[in-house]
Amino acid sequence: MGIDGCRLIHLPRISDSRGNLTFVEEGKHIPFDIQRVYYLYDIPANAERGGHGHKALHQLIVAMSGSFDVVLDDGRRRKTVHLARPDCGLYVCPMIWRELVNFTAGAVCMVLASSLYDETDYYRDYATFVAAGRGQP
Ligand code: TYD
Repeated sequence: MGIDGCRLIHLPRISDSRGNLTFVEEGKHIPFDIQRVYYLYDIPANAERGGHGHKALHQLIVAMSGSFDVVLDDGRRRKTVHLARPDCGLYVCPMIWRELVNFTAGAVCMVLASSLYDETDYYRDYATFVAAGRGQP
């Protein structure tokens, strides 16, 4: 599917005079079951996160506070998506190399993930990721 398999997902938002409330229900708003939640925070200026791909993991990346860019790369094409709202997440399908850059001060990035942490699901080397996407060992 490549980067065309990734898309922005607008999450429900309940607004009233007390502020906004957003929720995510597995199987309803996102196309995977949630087994893990992690978040990035206290991110120094100019830090770059990500820089890896996943073999089978599905994720939803949400800017809970502040903003940042997600660079998606399927080995053929690259696309940059700007995330800046807690009610809009980026669904990232398997076999996508991603880099998270341009964090604003105080930005918080929350990730909903389809599996528990498993280092064997990672491609940490870009050339190996590209070769695997082309069916090379
Ligand atoms: P890393 O993959 O470098 O984070 P990022 O995707 O933000 O670049 O992970 C940093 C460390 O945290 C690494 O040792 C793996 C560990 N880690 C866990 O133990 N559990 C997790 O759910 C995640 C995402 C990372």
